[in-house]
Amino acid sequence: MSTLTGTPLAPLLARLFKEANAATSPAIARYSREERARLVNSKTEYRQFYGSLKDLWLAVSLETGTLLYMLARSTGARIIVEFGTSFGISTLYLAAALRDNGGGRLITTEFEPSKVVRAKSNLTEGGLIDLVEIREGDALETLSADLPERIDLLLLDGAKALYPEVLSLVESRLRPGALVIADNADFSPEYLARVRSPAGGYMSMPFGDDVELSMRLN
Ligand SMILES: C[S@@+](CC[C@H](N)C(=O)[O-])C[C@H]1O[C@@H](n2cnc3c(N)ncnc32)[C@H](O)[C@@H]1O
Repeated sequence: MSTLTGTPLAPLLARLFKEANAATSPAIARYSREERARLVNSKTEYRQFYGSLKDLWLAVSLETGTLLYMLARSTGARIIVEFGTSFGISTLYLAAALRDNGGGRLITTEFEPSKVVRAKSNLTEGGLIDLVEIREGDALETLSADLPERIDLLLLDGAKALYPEVLSLVESRLRPGALVIADNADFSPEYLARVRSPAGGYMSMPFGDDVELSMRLN
């Protein structure tokens, strides 16, 4: 039995995915496909864009969540940083791995106050809040100071256009062999070019449909 497959987390995740799949937002229909693609790639309009989607979960898939748990478990991760909390689904998977690794610390960040409240409530219900520090605000500020000396795993799942900037904030703390998992990284060609460049300091490859999986070399 693991924290992920036991109670209270397994039934909680099942319920949260059901709620996430049922959630709708009138805001999303306002955007044309092209406008959405433009905003997802914007380094200046991400605050308004995600603000307009604040009722949506935008969560990782069940498969990606399970992958996060497995990667964090198998690497014995103790210190994790996450960009993009939303209602806390990916956070629950990562915190469950920390619990089963014997404890640790997960710093996650979200700028939408109503989402922070929901994430805290979900993490409390999942019995994992003691492992998680939620930094409310823009990741460009919240992750610019007070990071742990050594980070084992980084999840990038906030505004796609900021993946390179957030990686730069955390990079010097990534231990050799640290994993960086970027969800929907196809939206950030700049990020992909960086982690896939032979000189970039990573080994990197697409994994499944949604994820770019990278490993810090040194
Ligand atoms: C794709 S969702 C995250 C989903 C979450 N990881 C999960 O699996 O449940 C992206 C979230 O990042 C937040 N976000 C986007 N850009 C941000 C930024 N610069 N700083 C903090 N939060 C940000 C958005 O408000 C949104 O809730």
